[in-house]
Amino acid sequence: MTDTRRAILDALADGPADGPTLADRLDVSRAAIWKHVEALREAGFAIQSGDDGYRITAVPEYGGPAVAYGLDAPYEVEYHDSIGSTNDRARQLPAEGAPETVVVADEQTGGRGRLDREWSAPSGGVWLSVFARPSLPPARVPLLTMAAAVATAEAAREAGVDARIKWPNDVLVERDGDVRKLAGILTEMEGEADRVSWVVVGVGVNANVDPADLPDGSTSLRAERAHAGRDPADIDRRTFAQRVIERFHECRGDPDAVLPAWRDRSDTLGRRVRVDTPGGEVVGEAVDVEPPGTLVVETAEGVRRVSAGDCEHLRPAE
Ligand code: BTN
Repeated sequence: MTDTRRAILDALADGPADGPTLADRLDVSRAAIWKHVEALREAGFAIQSGDDGYRITAVPEYGGPAVAYGLDAPYEVEYHDSIGSTNDRARQLPAEGAPETVVVADEQTGGRGRLDREWSAPSGGVWLSVFARPSLPPARVPLLTMAAAVATAEAAREAGVDARIKWPNDVLVERDGDVRKLAGILTEMEGEADRVSWVVVGVGVNANVDPADLPDGSTSLRAERAHAGRDPADIDRRTFAQRVIERFHECRGDPDAVLPAWRDRSDTLGRRVRVDTPGGEVVGEAVDVEPPGTLVVETAEGVRRVSAGDCEHLRPAE
């Protein structure tokens, strides 16, 4: 979307405005405003022209302009109906000199998960990657991953699904004693010893996807709502994606609040866990999480601190 089109949407999100006012404010001709308004109508916005100017009366269900409209966070939005991986696309943005951007897709054909796993991403999910240039030392980047997990779990809760976080960043839902995966986060970065050049925080949420089209042990927002006897219709992916992006951005601005919010939504703390780490297996009770996202585990041999690994929740006796 062009900068002018985004600026028109931002202006109309605050209420109606007429052509001359918009042209003046955005420093373009009235004819240009008219052309952009027509393009927005073609993109699915219902824009009425009345005495008080242009007024948006309906927004498309999903897509780049829909996610950008009313988004309370300073990111460009780039949308693809289908793409290999939003993380791969976002990783190209630094070389293009792009501003901070969220890459969103309806479908990914080569979605990537943690630990070099594949990530199924059929049409209907919320697949997005935030490209950012945070002023953080690389050692603090795990906080952004935790922030994305918090943002996702909170947005799911707002959508009526009680999601919790398994360390470090799997978003899960428990139903009838079974735990199913709803969402995952994949963070990638480039930087030097003391400075991050860029990060890409990829968020994959099974939103309006049939769990039969996902790996075993997965669930979706729509399926969970239907099971809870709530509205079985599609969830509003536009609002959901906006909430994830906005909450993530809020956390970026207040890094000290990330771990308290993570603890609140954690399913790991207080449980017996087995963590597969590069240095071997750690088994014990997960008792806390410390900056920048280190899991503190009380084992039979004493307290261990784990900064990376695959975590499994164990039954108390295991
Ligand atoms: C995990 O293994 O749990 C992490 C999954 C991350 C998937 C998301 S979907 C959007 C972004 N693009 C990718 O290719 N992966 C991430």
